Amino acid sequence: MKRQPQTLMVASLTLALQTAHADNESGRAIFTEVAQPSCTICHTLADAGASGSIGPNLDELRPNRDQVIRAVTSGVGVMPAFEESLTESQIQAVADYVVSVTSAK
Ligand code: HEC
Repeated sequence: MKRQPQTLMVASLTLALQTAHADNESGRAIFTEVAQPSCTICHTLADAGASGSIGPNLDELRPNRDQVIRAVTSGVGVMPAFEESLTESQIQAVADYVVSVTSAK
């Protein structure tokens, strides 16, 4: 079968959407499970079902991507650094996740 350009375009768009969805899922998993101690212990984030109150409420703070990456990488105040326990791409994924579930509100 000869593929039409339109078919390819639809296929790659579908793939892009699925990838974005997967990223959000993995970002949520990092937020709730992979990061240790879990972000949920200290932060409130409605999308993740988190109601921690040691750190700022992320739904209200609505940090930008750089802010999340900086905080998670190096820690701030009593928040630990995750530089040693998460990979750079996991840190980026959790940052994209936090931004995507808080910025639209
Ligand atoms: C042990 C508790 C604790 C854990 C675990 C924790 N945090 Fe925090 N977090 C804090 C506290 C406390 C602050 C505020 C620190 C300050 O401003 O002095 C903070 C601040 C932040 C900020 C705001 C940074 C800024 O620029 O103001 C973000 C974003 C953040 N945390 C995201 C996360 C994410 C994502 C995770 C999981 C990977 C996480 N935190 C895990 C306690 C925690």
